[in-house]
Formats: sequence, C-alpha cells, structure tokens
Amino acid sequence: MIGRNEPCWCGSGKKWKKCHYPDSGAPQIQVTPQLAQEYLRKYQIIIKTPEQIDGIRTSGKLAAQILTETCQKAQAGVTTQELNDFAHKLHEEAGAIPACLHYGTPPFPKSICTSLNDVICHGIPNDIPLKEGDILNIDVTCILNGYYGDCSMMVTIGEISPEKQLVVDVAYECLMRSVAILKPGVLISEIGKTIQSYASSHKCGTVDQFVGHGVGLDFHEGPQIPHCYNSIDIPIVPGMTFTIEPMINAGVKQAYVDADDEWTAYTKDGKPSAQWEHTLVITNDGHEILTPWERQK
Ligand code: MF3
Ligand code: CO
Ligand code: CO
Repeated sequence: MIGRNEPCWCGSGKKWKKCHYPDSGAPQIQVTPQLAQEYLRKYQIIIKTPEQIDGIRTSGKLAAQILTETCQKAQAGVTTQELNDFAHKLHEEAGAIPACLHYGTPPFPKSICTSLNDVICHGIPNDIPLKEGDILNIDVTCILNGYYGDCSMMVTIGEISPEKQLVVDVAYECLMRSVAILKPGVLISEIGKTIQSYASSHKCGTVDQFVGHGVGLDFHEGPQIPHCYNSIDIPIVPGMTFTIEPMINAGVKQAYVDADDEWTAYTKDGKPSAQWEHTLVITNDGHEILTPWERQK
C-alpha cells in the first residue's frame, strides 16, 4: 500500500494524493507507452489497444448471447450434456471456438462449465437430468478472431430452497456492486473488499481458492482478481480487461477438487454455491461490461 504523500505510481513525481488518488478530482489517467510497459513488466497486465478492445467486445457479446440462449434451455429433465452440445453448436455457427474444450491439464473434456448446487466451479457436463430445486451455473468462454470473452450466470429450476435463493442473490449483488466501483485509479483490492464485506454481511462464505483474471488476448492473463480481502494495491487503468466472477457459498468458503476428474470444485460442507461472471474493460471515465447478459426473472 502506498501512502497518500508518497510519489504517485504514474511517475509524475507528484504526491499520490495530488495526482491519481481516487476521488481527488485527478486529471484523467493517460495510458502512455511507458505506463503500458510498466504494467506488463511489473504486473504482467496487458493494457489493450482500442482495436483489441473492439475484438474482445465482439467476442464478449457472442459469449453473452450463447450464455443467454443456453440458460433459456435449462429446465427440469434436460441434461447438462444437452446444454453443452447446444452451446457447442452455437459457437460453431458463429465461427467461434469454445475456450474450455481441451483447456488445461488434464484437458477439460467439454465446451462449457456446468456447476450444480454444491459445485463451486469447473463442473463437467454429464447425462444427469436437471430437476426441480436445482441451481446451476453455466460458464461460457468463446474465442472469436483470437479474442476471448468470458461470462457466466445462474439458472434456477422450479422452486428452490431459501438457502439456495439467498446464495444466488448474494452472489449476483457481489458481482454488480463490485462492477459499479470500477474506474481508473481504483485499487484491485477494493473489488474483493466490496465482495467479501457484502457476502459476510449475509453470513455467506467467499471462495478464495479461485479468482477472477485478466482476459482478452488469452484465457487467463494477469492480474489475478481475488474476490476476498487482499492487498493487491494495483490501480486499475484504462484499457485493462479482466473478469470478476465471485463464487459465494451458503456455508464455509473452503473448496475441494474432485480427485478423479481433477476439475470439479465442491464446497467442503456440501452447502450450495453460486457464481456470476462478467468480462469488463476500464474506460477513461469508468468501465464497460463486455459480456452484456441480463439476469432472467
Ligand atoms: N470460464 C472459467 C473462468 O471463468 C474457466 C473454465 S476453465 C475450464 O475462468 F477448463 F474449466 F473450462
Ligand atoms: Co473467468
Ligand atoms: Co468463466
């Protein structure tokens, strides 16, 4: 954490409080080639050009569209494998590649993630039909013309328990409240503070074993975006593109990963978990959501 009276991180030589200190009426942050180089070297953050942002916007829009249509298919009796096949076909029709397919080690076996009830994230589509009372996260990442857009939403199947409704609603609020604070000069650590303070005020656990991430030219770029309290005091600047994707648990925050498939992450106490995700870009005066989905009902 730098002090208010220390030199500003932008290299102006002025005190931080007189320069880019949040809400100081500071001059707009100019992303010079020097600043971009500094961010790459110090933090592995790729600040995007306007052309790259256009590409990520187009990919993000497609990801949000595929996500929306796939969520509309989710109902009792439908399997997550069927949702996977439907989403895969939409990628193909749009000339896009599903980024999840064969990603990582061991290679992720499907085209989307489907995380059901006590699955926190990275659930693998299978042949079990959805049933009344289920909550499901669907996570779509597409690659279009080489650019990545990453987003997810929750769907609820019929009547769900009050505990599940709470965690779905709290996770949604955590995402939207943390998106709302984004503008140049805000510290990455303020995102997690916004999320965890809201989640804990509703007695929900905030998962800290998985994080949001830079995205756009690659699936997972720097920086990491923790959703819990942290001390990553890097000011966000225009041209940064990253996800926020809080995973909120009705019970304890701890996750464990399935030893057989090495992907599926479950809550330790078996209680439900919920997650929503957007890809964002920081603009001169705030932010833009690059994955414009709308919450259903
Ligand atoms: N889409 C997920 C994210 O938000 C990552 C899924 S990786 C996969 O970062 F391999 F499981 F698909
Ligand atoms: Co993501
Ligand atoms: Co995702």
